[in-house]
Amino acid sequence: MTDAPVSRPVALVTGASAGIGVELARLLAPDHDLILTARRADALHTLATELSQKRGAKCHVFPADLADPAAPKALFDTIRAARLTVDVLVNNAGFGDLGPFAKADLAKLLRVLQVNVTALTELTGLFLPEMVARNRGRILNVGSIAGFQPGPMMAVYYASKAYVNSFSEALHSELRGTGVSVSVLCPGPVATEFAAAAGIRPEGAFSAGQAMAARPVAEAGIRAMRSGTRLVLPGWRNKLLVFAERFVPRGLTIRAVKWMLSKRL
Ligand SMILES: NC(=O)c1ccc[n+]([C@@H]2O[C@H](COP(=O)([O-])OP(=O)(O)OC[C@H]3O[C@@H](n4cnc5c(N)ncnc54)[C@H](OP(=O)(O)O)[C@@H]3O)[C@@H](O)[C@H]2O)c1
Repeated sequence: MTDAPVSRPVALVTGASAGIGVELARLLAPDHDLILTARRADALHTLATELSQKRGAKCHVFPADLADPAAPKALFDTIRAARLTVDVLVNNAGFGDLGPFAKADLAKLLRVLQVNVTALTELTGLFLPEMVARNRGRILNVGSIAGFQPGPMMAVYYASKAYVNSFSEALHSELRGTGVSVSVLCPGPVATEFAAAAGIRPEGAFSAGQAMAARPVAEAGIRAMRSGTRLVLPGWRNKLLVFAERFVPRGLTIRAVKWMLSKRL
């Protein structure tokens, strides 16, 4: 007699076509089935093939442009129609844009807010009630150390990540005792496509030598998610930086960020 297949929990990973999202999906694959989403369907299908062949994960590829205000609800409806229950939600998709606000492409900055803030909030709002009703679920949001201070020359991105950090920590507290947890992963510079997408020259903190690799960043996030930890800063440099900021006048920190970002234009 063969045992009936045991169904695995399902994890939805946004931004799974590149960078940290790929590593988050790889780390979840040994014990989760996966719903992979991003705009680039080809990259998602390549990852789905890898994860199903090497880790035995059943993968569903649902491409979506989260800058489209209709996309989060459409994705939720597609997942429902496929009769899938999301046990783990990873809100990882995000991007930024370097440059002074007055000269920026305003439409691009509004897309930054739509993806980093609105889509993340809407997906959380759509999936969280079912998790609470089941007394079970994990949400991992990808914030940033950028969320701990204003970022002149990247003002909207830094503000968007301040929202993600704050929103996630607040929900972590609200959900205490429900069986559902929200964790926020706050990386510093990571060697991904992020810098190119934001128009940041890959030097200094974003050079291959100094930026963290995506894998250990994702590992820190998954550890935090599994243990229900409120916030995680991957890497000792980021921990030190955020700790030291408490003792530096805010005006000085803002000037330092402006100096650092101006050099990357
Ligand atoms: N790299 C860093 O230095 C760093 C530092 C702190 C925080 N973070 C955060 O980490 C997260 C992942 O970034 P990453 O470093 O892995 O960058 P990445 O390599 O550029 O990956 C970004 C992911 O987001 C997806 N995405 C972007 N715009 C989208 C849209 N309109 N609709 C749907 N998906 C979209 C991309 O997929 P498609 O292009 O296929 O749509 C891609 O899968 C982001 O939230 C970022 O803000 C990054």
